Amino acid sequence: MRMCEINGISVKDIIKEHGSPLYLYDAEYIRRQYKKLTEEFSEFKHRIHYAMKANENPAILYIIKDLGGGIDAVSPYEIDRALNLGFQQSDIVFTPSCTSVNELVYGIEVGVNVHIGAVEYFPLLGDRLKDKCIGLRLNPSIDIKGNKKIATAHSNSKFGIPLRDLNKVKKYQDKYGFKVKGLHIHTGSNVKDVDDLNKSVAVLFDVVSQFEGVEYIDIGSGLKIKYRTGDGEIDLEKYAAHIKSKLYSLNKDIEIKIEPGKFLVGNAGYLFTSVNIVKKGYEKTFVGVDSGFNHLIRPMYYDAYHEIENVSNPGGEIEVYDVVGQLCEEDTFARDRQLNKVRVGDVLMIKSAGAYGFSMAMDYNLRKKPKELLIDRGNIMLI
Ligand code: LLP
Repeated sequence: MRMCEINGISVKDIIKEHGSPLYLYDAEYIRRQYKKLTEEFSEFKHRIHYAMKANENPAILYIIKDLGGGIDAVSPYEIDRALNLGFQQSDIVFTPSCTSVNELVYGIEVGVNVHIGAVEYFPLLGDRLKDKCIGLRLNPSIDIKGNKKIATAHSNSKFGIPLRDLNKVKKYQDKYGFKVKGLHIHTGSNVKDVDDLNKSVAVLFDVVSQFEGVEYIDIGSGLKIKYRTGDGEIDLEKYAAHIKSKLYSLNKDIEIKIEPGKFLVGNAGYLFTSVNIVKKGYEKTFVGVDSGFNHLIRPMYYDAYHEIENVSNPGGEIEVYDVVGQLCEEDTFARDRQLNKVRVGDVLMIKSAGAYGFSMAMDYNLRKKPKELLIDRGNIMLI
């Protein structure tokens, strides 16, 4: 049995040269996903704004820029990184959540597309809004199937302006003299059922006619990806058809903006980690690795499932393990997981780690973050 290869490069050689733990991203995968989305949306005017919170590494942002994409930023720091890498103001949408007035003012002054998510901001911004174009982030009050921790459009969510407050927005508009240029919604992440996204998007289309001069509808993201074999993916065709029919009925010159994070980078990334110890507990066998939730928090925080392979022993007998990290906490990547026999020193590959992996990593227990590598056209780069 050969050890695993990515883009023709042996993982064993990569680990030998760069050590472990490490993140590895596949540039070509990101390009393929981007192309897939543009092709599905090709029948209407659209722009992809990559949600850089998923993975803000400059090398990844350059890939998006080369493809002609824009950025979805949620903090001034993200705006600054995007501008420093050469994105233009018009390429950037800024949709912070419960941020300070100062951060909104920064976004307005620097000239990016600011989305305001609470009517309570308007009196605080006051005359600074005069003659400015802004966007509104709405909360459509929609319950979706899937993980509650990443659902953002339900009536108890902190995100967005409740629809009942649209009248107040209009009053503030008269008072402060701003224009509503965009309408935004973000239903949640990894939304299981495309019909939930469709419902949410339909709300925006209903609101367009309430404001004069809306130029774009930003549908956020929520595009589901495969985290495990047998998992469904977003039905892009159905989604695009719904948007197209809504645009047709609206009959206005409107651009659709979409803000994918996971869809572009989730399955482009792997976390490689080496086995420190294999130990038997009372009932379970634990594989202790040189990583933890300080590097990939998704399993602990969202109960997220990530496929794991023992790339050092692909032909080994199947055994059942709990894969645990080295933090002084209940730090678990997987429970009762079937893996090819694991030995000390083996390398495990944790899949689908490109989104919200490194970007949510931390230095807990004073342990360092992993290195990040990009594999592109047969070359490996430390990024
Ligand atoms: N747009 C807005 C306004 C967002 O808040 C997000 C994600 C996105 C776009 C991108 O969503 P995506 O395409 O990645 O689903 N850490 C969680 C996901 C949190 C998502 C936060 N907002 C996870 O690891 O599942």
